[in-house]
Amino acid sequence: MTGIEEICQTVISRIKPTDEERSKLVDLAERIIRKIDSLGSDRGLDIKGILVGSSARGTWISGQHDLDIFIMFLPHMDREHLEEKGLEIAKAVSLDAESFEERYAEHPYIHAVFEGYEVDLVPAFSVASASQIKSAVDRTPFHNSYVTFRIKGIEDEILLLKQFMKGIGVYGSELKTHGFSGYLVELLVIHYGSFVKTLVAACSWKKGEVIDIEVHGTVVHDDPMTMIDPTDPARNVAAALSIDNMCVFIDRACGFMENPSESYFIPAVPDVLDDSDFKTIINERGTSLVGIVFNTPDVVEDVLYPQMHKLEDSVCSMLERYDFRVYNSGVWAGDKAVVLLELESSRLPAVRKHDGPFVSNTSHAKKFKSKYDESDTFSNVYIKNGKYMVEIPRKYADAKKLIESELTNCSLGKHVGVSIGQEYSVLENTDMLGLTDDDYRRFLRRFFEK
Ligand code: UTP
Ligand code: MN
Ligand code: MN
Repeated sequence: MTGIEEICQTVISRIKPTDEERSKLVDLAERIIRKIDSLGSDRGLDIKGILVGSSARGTWISGQHDLDIFIMFLPHMDREHLEEKGLEIAKAVSLDAESFEERYAEHPYIHAVFEGYEVDLVPAFSVASASQIKSAVDRTPFHNSYVTFRIKGIEDEILLLKQFMKGIGVYGSELKTHGFSGYLVELLVIHYGSFVKTLVAACSWKKGEVIDIEVHGTVVHDDPMTMIDPTDPARNVAAALSIDNMCVFIDRACGFMENPSESYFIPAVPDVLDDSDFKTIINERGTSLVGIVFNTPDVVEDVLYPQMHKLEDSVCSMLERYDFRVYNSGVWAGDKAVVLLELESSRLPAVRKHDGPFVSNTSHAKKFKSKYDESDTFSNVYIKNGKYMVEIPRKYADAKKLIESELTNCSLGKHVGVSIGQEYSVLENTDMLGLTDDDYRRFLRRFFEK
């Protein structure tokens, strides 16, 4: 146990915000909030700025400068009014910022940078309870009140669990990551009592695990894991968590308890993959790589990534439908967006065996025979295992040609569809080295090494 204690102390000394960092953050938050309140009263609006999220609860990781500031409107306001006035106030506040931009996920908000801090300015409704929310963000202030006094004294445990999850790559409920949100981390520690107790418990989690801290007894959905929101019983706090990220956490939790090491808390950054390593890897693997490359649509990651995965899924099923076997696939986005596919082979023979009906099925048999007797085939119609068969030319013997001809018929997300509609290219093997971005080259290494 002392091994674990020592490791935890070392990690805490590295990730716990210093008093100086805390007062700088509080000071900045207070100045922004005063500005919101005064702009509100100048305009005769009944609004109030509040600090929420990890910076309000003292559970942010040192050096991570993220402030979540909500602009609270009265609940009877209509949504259009909130969006219009909320953004107007947020923009007016941001005139003091180094930079700002409007972002839109489920709800529009402003993302600004003030004195090096990333600040989200989010308009929300101050509804009476979390079950009466008008928009998903309205829950956040309730999370804040629920968590704030329950985490007094166990803030370090939350920091440890957050950093552990960052280290193993499962932290963040964004749709790019599908991991554990900050609020979920806080609830786990509240429920189990400490960082180590959470790891011990996670070691025996099963798919479909349910945690119901306030014993709401809500009907559970069929997610990999359910954490019933103490402030809103109908909601699963772990809804975004994927089965794989849940299982990575289970695996690493058991691993750490068996053989503790500080390395669990440090995210592994893969080396960039250079041209010659890439060539060696693809030669040795003997598979074919095919990439679809297009300009990244200018939308937030929570909008982009689901569309990237939708494209990945539709292309994989299309390839399988045409007899190409997909070994691995993945997506990457920077300036360019890439869907990368590793195929057993990107070439198939010109001939394809095509099954017909059972010989006993006379009406179908007749149609089948007459169709293929007249068309251009590699064989006569013959009988195998009681069925008619014929060997015909394959429509697409080349995966690249298939994608080039059929991609725009795949079901595509809105923004990805528009970008692909304008321009895209299909690259094979070493063509994929045309992109030199370091982050892309790290993605390539991770694609192979996992
Ligand atoms: P953040 O994503 O900024 O998380 O969302 P955080 O808790 O502040 O953790 P850090 O920044 O990673 O340290 C701010 C708040 O929005 C709500 C939560 O209440 C959270 O505290 N939220 C966010 C959710 O309820 N679910 C989410 O998936 C994301
Ligand atoms: Mn935050
Ligand atoms: Mn945030």
